[in-house]
Amino acid sequence: MHYNELKDKAISVLNNNWKEKFSIPCENLYPFQWFWDSGFIAIGLAHFDMKKAEQEIKTLLDAQWGNGFIPHIIFHTDTDTYFPGPDFHRADLHPQSTKSYKTTGITQPPVTGFVLQEMYRISKNKTQTLAFIVEVIDKVFENHSYFYNYRDPNDEGLVYIYHNWESGTDNSPMWDEIWTTMNPPEYSFKRKDTTHIDASQRPSNREYDHYLYILEIAKEHHYNDGKIAELSPFLVQDPLFNALLIKSNACLITLYEILGGRHEKIDQLHKWQEKAVSAFNNKLFDENLGAYIHYDLRNEKPLKYISSSSFAPLFANIPTTERAQNMVQMMLEKFGNKHQYLCASFDPTSHLFNPKKYWRGPVWINLNWILYKGLKHYNFNDIAKRIKQDTIELIEKNGFYEYFDCRKAEHQQRNAGYGGKNFSWSAALLLDLIHEHSL
Ligand code: SER
Repeated sequence: MHYNELKDKAISVLNNNWKEKFSIPCENLYPFQWFWDSGFIAIGLAHFDMKKAEQEIKTLLDAQWGNGFIPHIIFHTDTDTYFPGPDFHRADLHPQSTKSYKTTGITQPPVTGFVLQEMYRISKNKTQTLAFIVEVIDKVFENHSYFYNYRDPNDEGLVYIYHNWESGTDNSPMWDEIWTTMNPPEYSFKRKDTTHIDASQRPSNREYDHYLYILEIAKEHHYNDGKIAELSPFLVQDPLFNALLIKSNACLITLYEILGGRHEKIDQLHKWQEKAVSAFNNKLFDENLGAYIHYDLRNEKPLKYISSSSFAPLFANIPTTERAQNMVQMMLEKFGNKHQYLCASFDPTSHLFNPKKYWRGPVWINLNWILYKGLKHYNFNDIAKRIKQDTIELIEKNGFYEYFDCRKAEHQQRNAGYGGKNFSWSAALLLDLIHEHSL
């Protein structure tokens, strides 16, 4: 297939998922607006309709709370194809939650800062795009303020997530150890995701008990951040989440410098950044594994597993060149078997790896995009090229699925794309990848 045809298909996926002022990730399974999806989607929209890209971000930021928090889902409609919906989440319990929308009380990786810079890079009318950036950039700064003021109780420079849904990597084997420290009730609830998608590709019911239990505790305390830091059984410093925050800090600095003035904000961002990068390198790198890892702040111990999140620091210029070199070596050894597409979401050499189950192994397009950009930044051009070609090939062979089997043999006889179909960020980020002709 020629790239033009693929490009047209990607645009039509995005146009079909556009709902007047925001995009859904895909029909039925995810019928609302999701935080990090919106950011990646805006990058794709920027390639063919900058006004839509701007609107996507404006709508997202319009749902920001009084304390700077941005929720992970904005429930724009009343559809009942999704569980848990707004009546379960009850974000209204928080005194500063938005009054304009129903939302959740958990967040997602802070992509907005680097998304604004990507939109600026893509824009053919920089003046117009800067006018849009001026309108929204302080809200993104306020969001970063929220993280550093409320999500870093020990003032380390690293922010915590208090729910696996905040990580974006919902059912990663990473969390299994944490689940063993909890014993939630067996709730009676009706899953909706498994009515759309084969249950073998989704988290288990027992895992959902844990997900709901953490929310029940947060709700009991009206989503008060102090209480959550004190009581949530799930409290993790996540390298993907923190790397994206650090990347977004850097992009806000660049954009504020282009805009001129705003010295106080730039100084503040530099302060956050310095502390964050150093804490990240000291606390989240495991010398024995040779990889960045998650830290379980509740139980005060590192979670010694390697996942695609371990390589996200490349995107945020966090490792030294020497460390980056070692990381890439390890990526090739563990994830780079020539019978597999890059990059599995969890260590394929681990017994916990499952190539079909959501974040326990499949390849995800947003992580591939993050890794591609990171590898290119450090001039690892061969592996960057490979990850880009693998991404395009997976989509060409299967369509715009949510996630893909990394085993090449699985793709020979049948479709090995899983989860949601016509998935927005797969289309959006493919558009961005094929837009660059080199590499
Ligand atoms: N990704 C989650 C889900 O599967 C929510 O963010 O529903």
